[in-house]
Amino acid sequence: MKKLNKNKRKSIGIGVIGMGWMGMAHSRSYRNVVERFPDLEVDPKLVACADEVVERGQSAQDRFGFMYSTQNWQRLISDDEIDVITVATPNSRHLEIVTSAVRAGKHVFCEKPVGRTPIETQHMADLSSHAGIISGVGYNYRWSPMVQHAHQLIKEGKLGKVTHYRGRFFSSYASNPNSVLSWRFQKEKAGSGTLGDLMSHVIDMAHFLVGSIDSLVAHRETFIRERPLAVPGVGTHFTVRDDGPKGDVTNEDYVSTLVQFENGAQGTLEGCRAIVGPKCEMAFEVNGTKGAIRWNFEKMNELEIYLPEESSFHDGYVRLISDASYPFHAAFNPAAATGLGYDDLKLIEAYHFLKAIQTGQPNNPSFRQAVTVAQVQSAIQSSWDNNSWQSVAKIN
Ligand SMILES: NC(=O)c1ccc[n+]([C@@H]2O[C@H](COP(=O)([O-])OP(=O)(O)OC[C@H]3O[C@@H](n4cnc5c(N)ncnc54)[C@H](O)[C@@H]3O)[C@@H](O)[C@H]2O)c1
Repeated sequence: MKKLNKNKRKSIGIGVIGMGWMGMAHSRSYRNVVERFPDLEVDPKLVACADEVVERGQSAQDRFGFMYSTQNWQRLISDDEIDVITVATPNSRHLEIVTSAVRAGKHVFCEKPVGRTPIETQHMADLSSHAGIISGVGYNYRWSPMVQHAHQLIKEGKLGKVTHYRGRFFSSYASNPNSVLSWRFQKEKAGSGTLGDLMSHVIDMAHFLVGSIDSLVAHRETFIRERPLAVPGVGTHFTVRDDGPKGDVTNEDYVSTLVQFENGAQGTLEGCRAIVGPKCEMAFEVNGTKGAIRWNFEKMNELEIYLPEESSFHDGYVRLISDASYPFHAAFNPAAATGLGYDDLKLIEAYHFLKAIQTGQPNNPSFRQAVTVAQVQSAIQSSWDNNSWQSVAKIN
């Protein structure tokens, strides 16, 4: 495709709300996406950012070159220069901000979990569909070149019929009992704990690689039941405080789920935010009748495959390392084993979202995919309440 120079691209105004870890990651992506993907015909212009902590907004304005920053997110919604709102606040604010943005006709990217509850997510998806806007969700692990390759292998039938799937996200971020009681540990601010947080990625990945889940049974546990109170406006959920008063953790650290997929595959999905050992083990193993694959974000540029019919040279897993022949790798580096990192996945995510806005075609993953994840989360919660197997309702 002919490379467009900057002047020929259509400028698209961006507003980012919530300038913590994710707000900054999204701003960085918007700022760099055209340089990595010059085929884009829209040029994101960083118009404004909002954070309730004034210093965070100002610091992000300086850092990324937003035209202004504000404590008042409504100002972004009523700004005609802004076409796209990205929501990166704690979960308790998603519904209100997304609803206002969609009603104002903005395209909306919302971090996962879109709603605190499946009903909230469904509401935002319905509203977006009726408004005809493009939506996006932060299921970023899908975009790893090696995950894309795994997806392609499964789609082409190289693994045969998928029989087993094991997905997990084991994170150490809350394994220190003195890591502070940030909004993530409070039900009224976050909704569920690991179920909404880490398991959103695990469920989306299972959908992406294997398909819909038919039924499940689940358990949960909270290992660390109180934590030191956070200092308002200071630090992140990685902050540790060794003294001071403590408060109650009101959602779960751990989720385990046995699942049956609609296509007959059997699986387990597991997530924990307070586990010692793994740091960010967002991982899966897939077994089929003809082969197997496994991937772990901690080594995200590698994929292990076992395809005995494809090669007579091995009888065991072979390790592939990413190079320019795998999806998206060449946008970052022409050389083999010069791998991508987490922020690159956010940039690829931004590219797809902006491309959907450019073409007017639905984005994937959008709020619709978030509803399918929320339906599984809802069944998991029912299983906790009823201590029994549950069918996953399909109301999408
Ligand atoms: N996709 C991923 O891999 C991933 C990773 C981390 C977090 N997340 C999601 O991103 C969202 C944000 O998480 P984070 O880790 O960046 O949180 P964070 O606590 O680092 O940042 C949240 C920011 O929002 C600001 N804020 C709170 N209320 C606000 C309001 N009313 N108006 C404006 N600003 C407000 C806070 O001051 C803070 O700066 C959450 O929904 C979370 O689940 C996704």
